[in-house]
Amino acid sequence: MAENGTTENGQPLKKMPPLPHPIKNLEVKYTKIFINNEWHESMSGKKFATYNPATEEKICDVEEGGKADIDKAVRVATTAAFQRGSPWRQMDASGRGKLIQKLADLLERDRVTIATLETMDTGKPFLQAFFIDMEGCIRTLRYYAGWADKIQGKTIPVDDSVLCFTKHEPMGVCGSIIPWNFPLMMLVWKIAPALCCGNTVVLKPAEQTPLTALYIGALIKEAGFPPGVVNIIPGYGPTAGAAIARHMDIDKVAFTGSTEVGKLIKEASSKSNLKRVTLELGGKNPFIVFADADMDLAVELAHQGAFFNQGQCCTAASRIFVEESIYDEFVKRSVDIAKKRVIGDPFDFKTEHGPQIDQKQFNKIMELIESGKKEGAKLECGGSALKDRGLFIHPTVMSEVTDNMRIAKEEIFGPVQLIMKFKNQEEVIRRANNTEYGLTAAVFTKSLDRALALSSALQSGTVWVNCYNALHAQAPFGGFKMSGHGRELGEYALAEYTEVKTVTINISPKKH
Ligand code: NAI
Ligand code: MG
Repeated sequence: MAENGTTENGQPLKKMPPLPHPIKNLEVKYTKIFINNEWHESMSGKKFATYNPATEEKICDVEEGGKADIDKAVRVATTAAFQRGSPWRQMDASGRGKLIQKLADLLERDRVTIATLETMDTGKPFLQAFFIDMEGCIRTLRYYAGWADKIQGKTIPVDDSVLCFTKHEPMGVCGSIIPWNFPLMMLVWKIAPALCCGNTVVLKPAEQTPLTALYIGALIKEAGFPPGVVNIIPGYGPTAGAAIARHMDIDKVAFTGSTEVGKLIKEASSKSNLKRVTLELGGKNPFIVFADADMDLAVELAHQGAFFNQGQCCTAASRIFVEESIYDEFVKRSVDIAKKRVIGDPFDFKTEHGPQIDQKQFNKIMELIESGKKEGAKLECGGSALKDRGLFIHPTVMSEVTDNMRIAKEEIFGPVQLIMKFKNQEEVIRRANNTEYGLTAAVFTKSLDRALALSSALQSGTVWVNCYNALHAQAPFGGFKMSGHGRELGEYALAEYTEVKTVTINISPKKH
């Protein structure tokens, strides 16, 4: 099984192993700010509510971190945890790996509780949270645990008079600002490489979904990480998030979210201390199906690509290009399975599709669907909300979509599958690349030549051939163009969490 709960060729798992049941009426234990391995109230005295998007009911109030709380966290992350001689800096590199492994063990132990919390706070189906999101987190932690004692520099040949070598040192305090679509997975993608390289972390979860991050805070303490190494401050973007981006003592910030906020983060870095910035932003990802493709596979994965996580994925298959001769058949089959997608209570094991995260996202999606209809796209199915069910939107398929429509250009981040027609390879390459984004692309074909040609020609950080959402902890992920900066996952991410130091030592006897 691949990391994302698919088989190795990207097909979804058909048979799930037996599973424990979600916890009914789970009591939320952690709602405070996690700094220095302790639970704090907010400096301002403010709290904010987090909601269950499936019921639109309030789950609980959470302490609202702001600038003062970020300052407090950065102080301990810098002085207590990162200064020379601190337990964290003195720890053997393998010791860091052991702590990360221990954290992975605790996620395994509490897998049902954490998946239940994630479903309550996000509305995503429990089975997805349990099998896909949790699995991705555990594998990513274990992968980076293995790296902790293998981050090595090089010796550089110069001449006999000097010994020159590099050290890969931790950067310092790493700020992380993460979104609500994969709260757990985005947290792990940020903290695992940061910690294995020996950094400390100040992380802000999204205001819609603070609960699993806080639970992980408790596990970080239990695992035995020294105080101050990881600090978790729930709060809003323009306050707590901006305080991270602008902070003079934060050395690096990793952000996942909208392109708009990504630009603000870079600007704040420029205006403060030029902290290093990695950005994982949106996508308008082409999914290209040639007439020779395995039709069953392409239809199924286009469906999963468009609707997985209610379409709230930066990797969503949001522009499906289908070769003219199979277009009608492809649309028909896509509509058939979209109509069968089971929507409902995320805790029901039959449910494949939950609610959108909040009213703002719901409104954005409905507005874009309307714009598509006005601009001449054909609504094949869906296009409306479930009656009496707040934030649920029927899986929507639109055909006869053309490149100049807003729906073909803007990130929708909702359950909307757009199917476009193409005539030949050169045309589809040009159209696929004609976007400001460049996160992922997929090609479905049986021709090896064509697969190779497209995997070179497509301007995106990832190209999937005959598979989709095939993410692996070992393989780098990130964007070309306005989809972002830098890479997460894999060995490549280590470069984003270390500074290279060159040491040159004079060993020439005559100069002594
Ligand atoms: P957003 O970019 O506002 O939120 C992401 C994170 O950034 C949250 O933690 C938020 O609190 C924080 N943030 C917001 N303003 C900030 C600021 N001024 N300084 C620092 N941090 C700030 O995204 P939002 O509003 O939740 O969603 C808007 C759109 O962004 C979505 O419709 C979707 O198109 C895209 N998006 C992309 C994601 C991805 O995975 N690449 C994830 C979430 C949203
Ligand atoms: Mg919530």
